[in-house]
Amino acid sequence: FLGLERYASVLQKAIERKEREEREREKRERENLYFLWEDAKRLTEIFAPGEVARIYLNFSDPWPKAGHAMRRLTSSEFLKLYDAVLAPEGEIWFKTDNDGLFEWSLEEIPAAGWVLQDVTRDLHRDVPAEENVMTEYEEKFSARGQKISRLIATRKK
Ligand SMILES: C[S@@+](CC[C@H](N)C(=O)[O-])C[C@H]1O[C@@H](n2cnc3c(N)ncnc32)[C@H](O)[C@@H]1O
Repeated sequence: FLGLERYASVLQKAIERKEREEREREKRERENLYFLWEDAKRLTEIFAPGEVARIYLNFSDPWPKAGHAMRRLTSSEFLKLYDAVLAPEGEIWFKTDNDGLFEWSLEEIPAAGWVLQDVTRDLHRDVPAEENVMTEYEEKFSARGQKISRLIATRKK
């Protein structure tokens, strides 16, 4: 697993958390987790075509202003990059608490030629807890009673 983050301060927190968890809980499964200080805009410069098996977009920034739509990580601009680096059977797994971003993505992703599957607007009701890895934001928002949406997107065969 490779975690991408463009801000060094945020990345540093992730590295510190990884190290803390490894120390405290001897989480050996984290040995396959690495981080890249990179902007996702550069995906095609980082990865070879078809090199990536799955992309997780967890609680991406919503960029609510219409003028900023192309900054959303589910925009057609980013979908082109994912298309280039994902393997033929590769998948995008997108989770969010943000209804506006989710509804917009439900239109944007198929319009770019992808197929949606496993669409839910209440992930914790529809998917058993053991099949879902909660992120930090997910724990925070669901503790407040907010529902989590999730979709999986693949390319048309
Ligand atoms: C809301 S936070 C992520 C929360 C975390 N994934 C979770 O679920 O707990 C979004 C993060 O994505 C980073 N980010 C946004 N756009 C990015 C891009 N184009 N490339 C790399 N990182 C990006 C932001 O800097 C921010 O730290």
